[in-house]
Amino acid sequence: MEYDRCGFVDAVESLAKTAGVEVPREERRPEQDRQIRLREQCFSLLEEAGDFYRKQLREHPRRDQAVKYLQQRGLSGQIAQAYGLGFAPPGWDNLLVKLGHNEQRIALLAETGLLVERSEENRRYDRFRHRIMFPIRDLRGRTIGFGGRVLGDDKPKYLNSPETPVFHKGRELYGLYEARKYGKNIESLIVVEGYMDVIALAQYGMFNAVATLGTACGEAHLELAFKQVSEVIFCFDGDRAGRDAARRALLNALPTMKDGRQIRFLFLADGQDPDSLVRQIGRERFEQQLQHALPLEDFLFDVAADGINLNSMDGRARFSKQAAPLIHKLPEGVFRSLMMDNLAKRTGLSLEQLQQFTDVPDALIPAEPAPRDNVRDAPSTPPPKAAPTPGPADDYGDIPELYAENDAEPPAYLHDEIPVDAGAAAQITEQPYLAPPIRSRTALSPARQALILLLEFPALLQQCEPTLNIETAPEHDDDLRQLLTLVTYLRKRPNAEFYNIMGFWAGVHGPESCQKLCQNNASQLFSSLKNLAGYDALKDLNACFKELNRQAERRRNREELQSLTAKGLANLDSQERQRYLQLIQQS
Ligand code: GTP
Ligand code: MN
Repeated sequence: MEYDRCGFVDAVESLAKTAGVEVPREERRPEQDRQIRLREQCFSLLEEAGDFYRKQLREHPRRDQAVKYLQQRGLSGQIAQAYGLGFAPPGWDNLLVKLGHNEQRIALLAETGLLVERSEENRRYDRFRHRIMFPIRDLRGRTIGFGGRVLGDDKPKYLNSPETPVFHKGRELYGLYEARKYGKNIESLIVVEGYMDVIALAQYGMFNAVATLGTACGEAHLELAFKQVSEVIFCFDGDRAGRDAARRALLNALPTMKDGRQIRFLFLADGQDPDSLVRQIGRERFEQQLQHALPLEDFLFDVAADGINLNSMDGRARFSKQAAPLIHKLPEGVFRSLMMDNLAKRTGLSLEQLQQFTDVPDALIPAEPAPRDNVRDAPSTPPPKAAPTPGPADDYGDIPELYAENDAEPPAYLHDEIPVDAGAAAQITEQPYLAPPIRSRTALSPARQALILLLEFPALLQQCEPTLNIETAPEHDDDLRQLLTLVTYLRKRPNAEFYNIMGFWAGVHGPESCQKLCQNNASQLFSSLKNLAGYDALKDLNACFKELNRQAERRRNREELQSLTAKGLANLDSQERQRYLQLIQQS
């Protein structure tokens, strides 16, 4: 089960098959037998159909049109092969004629959804006509259904197999089989919206993309995904429909968020989908965007805070009523407690108060999207009485071969170098770089002050209590960096005097740097200090160090908190969670 990531029955069956034995079943009722046989017949017929469509892509007189379309979309022959793409030629009965040798097989073709039956007219015809065919495969690689895309802008754009004894949209993820087959040790799955998105990402070496089949991503989809990996990243369009789809996914995802699982959300720019984006910016930058995807916890609070002013009391109350019910939908566990604590902290309400809000407000439930148009597959014009034979080959000119005559196994690695559209890539603005906040320096920083004191009285360092307990300084903090250098030096040379320091500094850092240090010394400033009545240099240095240590600890805590948050609350082990709570409380 672990190796194949499948259920018990499937595991036993596949093992038995390898060993060439029949799995004995107790009390198999005839009905069950019939079901099993039916499913097996469906699998084998669907495989034949897949082979037929693939063959048409290589041999049909009008294949050029399909090949040209795929090339236009930027698909390599290898990737088309890896995903088993095919071509359903124009015409009403290509498949029917080819595979429907007898009544029993015709009935089976209808059962698998490959034929449409109109009983009132006693007519049957191919469901998929004049389309690019995408076989949908289960985890074991068996073809269970198809998606078919028109070659142009006709409607409906996609047609999917209907629900059949072997195909249930709500439980299948397109591309999952290929992800496991070609992706090496994948750790996360990217859930995208379309077939083409899955394939484009794979062509760029990201084999871990999967798509739902024109339906919202439901709990069953996520459970299936979480059998393979512990992290799922949703990739949505940035438009209204994408936001709605993301909310729907969020609501469905909440109950699946067992401890240790992680979900993140990536929103693309309006008008962009993963297919177009990866072709523009390439794999590396696409993966960078994935790394910045919003963790579920952040998206949850975003959704709950949408349109609310959190600075008002009333706003915080409304925020609580929106966020708490969402958190309630999480399974019981540490993650849920952390989220509730977090909400309590944000709103100032107690956990008891928050517990009362259990119903998700209607405002948070997105409207159902307009149904896709293949619910019923009714052709606008009924099929003609006699099926027309395909016309002569269209004249598409010379098109380089997309498919090798003999289908060799696709290579394990299909991601050769793929050019990135550099011009388009340049148009995408980089994430703005956030510089560290610049503090106004009205008073001497404690680091500067300590530096001055030590230059004047190097021996004070040994008497200091506490002593400076900092190893590294932030890049932008020149004062602290200089102080650390000086302290390190003085620890090695406890008897050093001012001129020793100058010699060391000029030797190691150069005369310019030494001059800068002396300017910093600003001895006038110091002399004004020491003339103050009762001025105690040691006490002053102690105070500086104490303050610096405190600042450094806060910095370390902040960094630790950031790194824990970046890891995702759900991924923390129990020790880290303890620490997280502690840090949150301190901050
Ligand atoms: P293209 O790039 O235009 O080829 O499509 P796509 O793969 O980007 O798909 P899109 O984002 O337009 O739609 C996402 C998914 O919704 C598709 O992969 C289909 O599964 C489904 N879908 C889209 N249009 C239709 C339709 O007209 N009918 C049905 N049944 N499903 C559709
Ligand atoms: Mn697309």
